[in-house]
Amino acid sequence: MSQVIQPQFRHTPVLVDEVCTLLINDLSGIYVDGTFGLGGHTKALSSLLNDDATLIGIDQDQSALAQFIPTLVQQPLHLVCTNFENLDQVLADLKINKVHGILLDLGLNSFSLDDPERGFAFSLQGPLDMRFDRSNELTAEIVVNNYSQEKLADIIFRYGEERNSRRIARRIVEMRTNKRLTQSDDLKLAVIKSVDPRFRTKSLARVFQAFRIEVNREMEVLSNVLYSAIRVLVPGGRLAVISYHSLEDRMVKTHFRDLSQNIPRQPGMIDEEIRIPLLKRITGKPIIASQTEAAENPRARSAKLRVAERTIHATE
Ligand SMILES: C[S@@+](CC[C@H](N)C(=O)[O-])C[C@H]1O[C@@H](n2cnc3c(N)ncnc32)[C@H](O)[C@@H]1O
Repeated sequence: MSQVIQPQFRHTPVLVDEVCTLLINDLSGIYVDGTFGLGGHTKALSSLLNDDATLIGIDQDQSALAQFIPTLVQQPLHLVCTNFENLDQVLADLKINKVHGILLDLGLNSFSLDDPERGFAFSLQGPLDMRFDRSNELTAEIVVNNYSQEKLADIIFRYGEERNSRRIARRIVEMRTNKRLTQSDDLKLAVIKSVDPRFRTKSLARVFQAFRIEVNREMEVLSNVLYSAIRVLVPGGRLAVISYHSLEDRMVKTHFRDLSQNIPRQPGMIDEEIRIPLLKRITGKPIIASQTEAAENPRARSAKLRVAERTIHATE
């Protein structure tokens, strides 16, 4: 059954002015919103771009794309339901070679977060699902019930940065010997029984984040898209990434830093060691929300925006 969006669930795009200012470099250019969600950023970009610009919206969550009313934008808009790691293929299908800007506003939209059926929120009772793309086979239920204790602890530690990872993994395994864990409440109970009540909420957030990252291969697909984005940007084109947790931000930061470094030829160097910078960093420190935005939109509190530009002289 489709979920009807109530006005209070409407998604407020994060750092929207900053994204528009830093991303737009050609008013008639081609822009990819790789995490279209409910279209908040695309709508804002559309209001600033010329009518002959082109917009491409990608989201792997069909239920989010289905909410958008295409007449809200003036420009041609191509909506594609797929993982953003397939960016090259999306552009090839549209017969587009290069684009002027790409936005990635990572994570999940508030529409999905607020839907108990998706199992993303520990505050809501629902199935252990957590898939962005509901046609994927791997669900949180499969991870929780089928992975070894060691692998569970590893995921909770690596993707949730949770200190009590081993204890929580042990508890999950104990609980699942009695009955299959199918509900978000089952996972919640495993965490609650394993951690000091003072740190319960933080641990719950970390553990749910860890399983979501695993189910959706979030670190792997982010790494893939960061490389393909650079390949498809015109020189001077920009990539803007908003991340919401330190693992994502670290990956974006390292990627931007490494690809903006110049390693000139020196005696004895082999070709692979020489690097012409493919990127120029536009933001040094990440941009964060103003106090006003953070007060009005809790999602904005953990947001970090980094922007880089494809260098002019760079070849493939
Ligand atoms: C924070 S929301 C984006 C909200 C959007 N900027 C707006 O203003 O409405 C992130 C969206 O990205 C989607 N998403 C996350 N990872 C994705 C991926 N690997 N490929 C495609 N879409 C993805 C989620 O389904 C979600 O709708």
